[in-house]
Amino acid sequence: MTPVPRPALDTVPLYVPKPPVARADGTSHRLFLNENPYPPLPSVLAEVARAARVAHHYPEIMPGDLVAALAARLGVPESDVVTGPGSVGIYQQIAQAVLEPGDEVVYAWPSFEAYPIVARIAGARAVEVPLRDGAHDLAAMAARVTDRTRLVFLCEPNNPTGTSVRPADLEAFLAAVPSSVLVVLDEAYHEFSDSGVDGVALYRDHPNVVVLRTFSKAYGLAGLRVGYGVAHPVISAALRKCAVPCGVNGIAVRAAIASLAVEDELFARVDGIVRERDALRVALAERGVPVLPSETNFLWLPLGPRAAPVAATLEAAGLMARLYPGEGIRLTVGTPEANARVVTVLEDALVRA
Ligand SMILES: Cc1ncc(COP(=O)(O)O)c(C=O)c1O
Repeated sequence: MTPVPRPALDTVPLYVPKPPVARADGTSHRLFLNENPYPPLPSVLAEVARAARVAHHYPEIMPGDLVAALAARLGVPESDVVTGPGSVGIYQQIAQAVLEPGDEVVYAWPSFEAYPIVARIAGARAVEVPLRDGAHDLAAMAARVTDRTRLVFLCEPNNPTGTSVRPADLEAFLAAVPSSVLVVLDEAYHEFSDSGVDGVALYRDHPNVVVLRTFSKAYGLAGLRVGYGVAHPVISAALRKCAVPCGVNGIAVRAAIASLAVEDELFARVDGIVRERDALRVALAERGVPVLPSETNFLWLPLGPRAAPVAATLEAAGLMARLYPGEGIRLTVGTPEANARVVTVLEDALVRA
């Protein structure tokens, strides 16, 4: 008789490591994980090196300096800030804090793949509400909230489609959802968005909102794994209780604090990525490539059955995009060189697909 894992895990996919996708000659571009194409700034790398020298020490149980820096930056009490090893780490804290088996978790689909996994690990029922024209259908989502619903995930802007909701629609949604339901506003791409939605402003008036942001995208620290959330004290205290002790490592903490100090430079890069995104979208649309407007650092190409052959052509040209079989391709905005190659290759691929 061997130990038997919880049956809820039977519905959770097992990740199997894959061989590296980058070409050995260094000419391929990673456009499949919505990473920042630029490495950390020199001042941040200097902090990383300094922090590495004390890697034989444990980090703090919860990174107090980073919490203080974030609270000051956002103008919120320190008690309301939570941190985690990426925002995906905080999803797990949220699930542990609020979900019981059989509870319902509402989210749009397609959206970020972590939501169904988090719900299923908790033994909760995933309630998926189809996007409408690639965007959240907030009225339909509100209609799926029942007295079993404990959690709503709202990916704003949405991964993989890049779309944003209108601030007024989000306010109406929050007014319609019972205040006992925790609404997780996942703003991983907030810094690339011009939509006017600001989760930190919303949390102030809504004790049932937790806003999540990350250093992985705009701040270019995906490899160090650090994200944060802001919520009212009852929720933030529960999330802190569920955090893995020392879960945010000391190198990530110093790099995140150093990055907050050079936001001007980092956000100038973000502006550049946004300009590249918009130019890439126009160039693709002019060539007949179906592409949605985006408020993120990626574009969604709803290619349907053509997605797989087009993704294969991109890959052969060293452009590693994310394929959603039968639906489309999600393409991270890369360096100007990568984006120029995308235009050429896609124009050619679509003639042949
Ligand atoms: C919507 C969304 N949330 C969260 C994440 C992960 O962020 P982190 O690196 O902070 O775990 C991603 C990464 O792709 C994402 O697309």
